[in-house]
Amino acid sequence: MMKLKIAKHVADSAEAHALFFVKKAVQFSSVLSEEAELQVAKVLEEMSNGVSEDLDIVEIDGHKTIFVNAAKECGLNSLDLLRMAGYRLGLRAKQKHYKTVKLLLADAADEQFKAILHGLYYSDYSFKKYKSNPKIDFCVIFEIEADARTKDFEKIAAEVAVEQHYIGLCKNLVNTTGSDLNPEAFAKLAIQEAHCVPGLSITILNPRILAKDGFNGLLTVGAGSRFEPCMVKLTYNPKDAVSDKHLALVGKGLTFDTGGISLKPAKGMKEMQSDMSGAAAVLSAICAAAELKIPLKISAYLCLAENRIGSGAVLPGDIFKAKNGKTVMVDNTDAEGRLVLSDGLCAAVENGATHVIDLATLTGAMVRALGPYITGYFTNSDELVDLVKNASANACEKFWQMPLDSEYANELKDYFADLSNIGKSAGAILAALFLKEFIPDDVKWSHWDIAGTAFTERPWKYTRYGATGIGVQTLLGIMREMSEEKEPSEKDEEA
Ligand code: BES
Ligand code: ZN
Ligand code: ZN
Repeated sequence: MMKLKIAKHVADSAEAHALFFVKKAVQFSSVLSEEAELQVAKVLEEMSNGVSEDLDIVEIDGHKTIFVNAAKECGLNSLDLLRMAGYRLGLRAKQKHYKTVKLLLADAADEQFKAILHGLYYSDYSFKKYKSNPKIDFCVIFEIEADARTKDFEKIAAEVAVEQHYIGLCKNLVNTTGSDLNPEAFAKLAIQEAHCVPGLSITILNPRILAKDGFNGLLTVGAGSRFEPCMVKLTYNPKDAVSDKHLALVGKGLTFDTGGISLKPAKGMKEMQSDMSGAAAVLSAICAAAELKIPLKISAYLCLAENRIGSGAVLPGDIFKAKNGKTVMVDNTDAEGRLVLSDGLCAAVENGATHVIDLATLTGAMVRALGPYITGYFTNSDELVDLVKNASANACEKFWQMPLDSEYANELKDYFADLSNIGKSAGAILAALFLKEFIPDDVKWSHWDIAGTAFTERPWKYTRYGATGIGVQTLLGIMREMSEEKEPSEKDEEA
């Protein structure tokens, strides 16, 4: 466990100092002796011609100094470059077993400081649940000199700690095996988490209630498993909410997706333990929002089921009645995410959401289209385009808008039923068009297909392997933005 200490001034007794640089320029200028300035200039010159490299440690002014390149990676925005710099610094300090590392950050802007902290926290995450002899993590204390910014930085650090706690929760849930996190176990964990956060209420819709209320998507998908499907509903309704907006989050929570009778091939199937990443992100985001006391009404719907083969499993060609009254032909049992989401979307709309965002590891087609670094999103609302664009850039999560083009909608027509759960072409778009069937025109809605970005099999940015926690921070950014927007006052309206 790493620790942070923020103070106006920090004594020079730290075991090492860290210095961030971009090309030949030191960032967040530090006060150095004349001689040290020359030394630093020499090191940066050596960096530029390849004699020295990122994370080299050089004695400057009598202090071991870690030189951290804050512009190393290609294609990342400036905040993400700082996150990466913080991440690499965190790993390096741990590797060198430095007990204390001093950072001079008084000149950093709020967003820059926040980015470095996120990077340090990312370097501190590991998932050791299944190791019989886990290595005990070395604890580094980062001493941050903040001067006049001390108060601001303390506030930011408290926020980052909450965000990272819940990003950690999201990752732990996704990294837990399919057999250990079945729908019932997930729901139990959600109850435990919700009870720790004041202002958050939770209800579980079990199969009896689902059947009574007509939530047949979850029941259809979960029918082949000995673990019962359920919907977890969370509500956060703060008294100081500034507007009448109600943001609903809907998460795909397939605790495992074998494909069902339309069985998936063995290769890559084990990654389908991450098919509940949407639900994990949504749970984490609403918990974090309540903990951070964001003044916005938010609700969340986790659609939990296991898609498995069994004697009760839904058969290809079966038809069921969805919550909106339409009949749906299950042409392919592996296209199950959209079926469970239909229930979550209907529940969100029924509860009066003005804005709905769903997160789902929905299609292999999205993975092929945008690869593992970029999340594709669809929306029926210009307001949400702006919200997603701004929040995702600040959160260093790349999003790209995909077309919600109804010319493809014909492919979802079925001979016998009102709708089929698959079409013939444009896989990711068809999935989004299927979801759109459950959203009235006056509800602002965005669908995020995180199939490529939720789980990484190779080192990517600050994740070596496994869950990335994608979505949590962009959601928090959107919530903050929505909560800040003031409704026009009477005076404005008169003018
Ligand atoms: N969970 C998968 C999508 C997925 C693929 C997530 C790769 C993460 C990585 C989803 O349920 C699925 O199987 N979708 C099918 C739909 C098809 C049958 C129309 C797919 O994309 O192949
Ligand atoms: Zn599937
Ligand atoms: Zn799936």
